[in-house]
Amino acid sequence: MYLCVNFMADCSKNISENVFSSLLEMLLSGESPGREGWRLLLGAPDSGQDRRLRSLAAEVARGRWGRGVWIRGLVEISSFCHNNCYYCGLRRSNRQASRYRLSVEEILECCRKGDRLGFSTFVFQGGEDDVQDDEWMEGMVHAVRAEFPRHAITLSVGERGEEAYRRFRKAGADRYLLRHETRNDGHYAHLHPSGMSGLHRRECLYTLKDLGYQVGAGMMIGTPGQTVDCLLDDIAFLEELKPEMIGMGPFIPAAGTPFANFPAGSVAMTLRMIALMRLRFPDALIPATTALATLDDGGRGAGILSGANVVMPNLSPSPVREKYGIYDRKACRGCEAAEGIHRLEQDLRRIGYHISYGRGDAMSHAAK
Ligand code: 5AD
Ligand code: SF4
Repeated sequence: MYLCVNFMADCSKNISENVFSSLLEMLLSGESPGREGWRLLLGAPDSGQDRRLRSLAAEVARGRWGRGVWIRGLVEISSFCHNNCYYCGLRRSNRQASRYRLSVEEILECCRKGDRLGFSTFVFQGGEDDVQDDEWMEGMVHAVRAEFPRHAITLSVGERGEEAYRRFRKAGADRYLLRHETRNDGHYAHLHPSGMSGLHRRECLYTLKDLGYQVGAGMMIGTPGQTVDCLLDDIAFLEELKPEMIGMGPFIPAAGTPFANFPAGSVAMTLRMIALMRLRFPDALIPATTALATLDDGGRGAGILSGANVVMPNLSPSPVREKYGIYDRKACRGCEAAEGIHRLEQDLRRIGYHISYGRGDAMSHAAK
């Protein structure tokens, strides 16, 4: 039974200050609060405790990373996808979706622009496009690596075979983002058609790790059918995988998908999850996502003040930005655009932070 549960309201039996403080103590000493501890932290804080959680998480992030926020230039390389995830505007069956794919030369142009703006990391993200196949991808990575020997190259192009991942790595890719989406198998089946498997996705993540990639896992917050237990399963999985990056953003309905009329995820719950994951994974790279900024004008700043330490401005060619429609009304102008980097700098200064222009490798890979 996967009913949409408003668990923020559902679990609002507040926890005592003593219990709350001892759970925070556990997190600060590097221990897991365990499933029932997580359950309390996820569902029970009152607004004062929530504020404390978020500011403590930001303090922990500053302790590790200072007041710098890493930037990644996001290039959306293809809006074609052979998959049919129920939540995503790029799903194969969405006739309302605009489709495009970038050529290697167009991608290199985006990188040149990003380099001029000061980006040291490029993230190439796209649907699972049959035309941008393994061979094409390997060639693309090769071409970017040849022109940008010192930049970090991140791929986010879905589930591929082990051999393909090995070839991309050899061609120069350093990092790979592949959200696990949900660790709960029933919930996974609620979000995806029967041909797709959560297990296969997780196997991909372990393969990527073995190949030496810095990996990013993650999930949406507030997808249809997500319960507290689903999030507890996600946390347990993250504790097991220990990814270098954790991407979390609210679910936002997308026109033309089976979930078009479902409510968006909660910004407050997303911020709480960012704070909790920062406390559990002090070294992780955690973005204040575009989805968060889309739902709430102050979302990016709130994410950083809850422990996030990465933002990913859009470096795609302007005419295609709106076409990469994973969800509706995606923020891709102003501070979400790479050209808006000066505005982003000002926005960050206003909350006491600044842009870090380096590669921003995961701590465990920083010396490599
Ligand atoms: N709302 C928010 N995030 C979404 N994604 C896909 N569709 C949506 C949506 N409707 C996220 C998925 C995917 C990432 C690239 O975008 O988590 O892994
Ligand atoms: Fe394709 Fe990714 Fe969208 Fe699923 S979430 S339809 S795999 S682009």
